[in-house]
Amino acid sequence: MKQICVIGVGYVGLVTAACFADLGNRVCALDVDDKRVENLKKGVMPIYEPGLEELVKRNTKSGRLSFTTSYSDGLAGAEFAFIAVGTPSGIDGNLIIINKSTVPIGTGDWVADIVKSAQPKPIDFAVVSCPEFLREGSAIADFMGPHRNVIGSLERDAADKVAQLHLPLRSPIVITDLRTAEMIKYASNAFLATKISFINELADLCELVGADVKEVAAGMGYDARIGRYFLDAGLGWGGSCFPKDVQALAYMAKERGLNPRILNDVMDVNYDRRKLVSKQVEKLLGGNVKGKTVGMLGLAFKENTDDMRDAPSVDISNALVAAGAKVRGYDPVARVTAAPLMPAVEIFDDVYKMAEGCDALIVVTQWNEFKQLDLEKIKELLKTPVIYDGRNIYDPNLMREMGFTYQAIGRGNHKK
Ligand code: UDX
Repeated sequence: MKQICVIGVGYVGLVTAACFADLGNRVCALDVDDKRVENLKKGVMPIYEPGLEELVKRNTKSGRLSFTTSYSDGLAGAEFAFIAVGTPSGIDGNLIIINKSTVPIGTGDWVADIVKSAQPKPIDFAVVSCPEFLREGSAIADFMGPHRNVIGSLERDAADKVAQLHLPLRSPIVITDLRTAEMIKYASNAFLATKISFINELADLCELVGADVKEVAAGMGYDARIGRYFLDAGLGWGGSCFPKDVQALAYMAKERGLNPRILNDVMDVNYDRRKLVSKQVEKLLGGNVKGKTVGMLGLAFKENTDDMRDAPSVDISNALVAAGAKVRGYDPVARVTAAPLMPAVEIFDDVYKMAEGCDALIVVTQWNEFKQLDLEKIKELLKTPVIYDGRNIYDPNLMREMGFTYQAIGRGNHKK
C-alpha cells in the first residue's frame, strides 16, 4: 500500500484518486475548491461518470480515500503526488511529482525548475509525466484496463517507482523521457481525431457513390494496421480533449515554423460537419425550417456524460434557430449542464414529450436509450416522420420500411 496525494479533483483527478484507492493504496485527494471538497466528503459527485459515485463512496468508507483542501494534510507522508491541475508549492521529503494533466511539451522540465526554485532547502524530488487516456463515460474502465501506461522522466529510478504503482493494472508500460511522454498524449488524441475526420470526409464520398461508410469502416478495420476503433462517421468530435489537444499541437508546430496542414484540415473537416447538419435538415423539410420544430436527441458532446464542452448540439441548434426553426432538446443526463448554453432551446426531461409535434428529429449522440426508442411511437408523435441520424444508430432499410424520411451519414442508398 502506497501513500498517494492527488492534487486537483476534477475529471482526471477524481477518477485517478478513486481508482488508485480501489487498488489498495491510501489516497488523499486535494482541491482548493472548499465546496467541491465538502460535497465529496458527503458523497456528492462534481461530475457525472458511470460507476464513479459508488467507487468513491466505497473507498471513502474503507478509509482508503479522503478529501482535503490543505496541502500539508494532503502531502503528509505521501510518496507520490499526482498533479491533475496546475503546479503545487512548499514541498519537503522525497517526493515524485507526476503530471497527469495534458500539458504543452516541456512542462515537466518547467515544473522541475519551479519546484527547485521554490524549495527553502534542496531536497530530492523527481518529476514524471504520466498522461491519462481516460474517455468520459468509461473513465473507470479505461483506468483499470488501459491499452498502455506511459511514464516519462529524466530519473529512471522515479519512473520505475511509478511503473510499480501501475503494475496491478497488468497493462503494457512505456517508459521514456519527459518530453516524449508528453508528446505521446498529444499525438494519440490528434491521431484519433484524424481517424474520425478521415472517415467523416470519406462518408461524404460514400454518400455520392452509393457506398455504405459503416461497412467500409468495418472492412478497413479488419486490417490491424488500421483498426476499427474511432472510425464511426457522424457529427464529428467535441469534448474537453480533442478540440484543445489538436489545436495545441497545431499551435506548437506553427510556433516552431512548421505548417501543420493535416491538423488544420482535421479541425476544418470536423467543424464543417456541424454547419452541414442544419442545411441537410432544411433539405429534408422541403428547403425551409422557418416555423418548423426540430428536436435534438442528445445534447452533451457524446453519450454517457453530461459534459457540454465543445458539444456539436450547441452549434447545430444555433444554426437552426438562426434559420427560423424552433428547437427542442433531450439528453438523459445533460439537461442541467446544457440549459445555460442553449437558452433558445426548449429542453425536455421526457424524450417522447420532446418528439411530440416535431417536424424532424436529429440524432446527435448515440445513447443506448436512443437505439432502443419505440420508433413506432416516435413516428406517431412526430408531425412529419423525418429523422436525421447524425450517429448512424438506426438501420436505414428498417427506417424506410417503417415510413420514415430517414437520412444517415455516408450510407449511400444502402439498399440490400
Ligand atoms: C478522449 C480520448 O479518447 C481519451 O483517450 C483522452 O484521454 C481524452 O479524450 P473523450 O473526449 O472522453 O476521450 O471522448 P471519446 O470517446 O474519445 O470521443 C471523442 C469525440 O469523438 C466525441 O465527440 C465522440 O462523439 C467522437 N467520436 C468518437 C466519433 O465521432 N467517432 C468515433 O468513432 C469515436
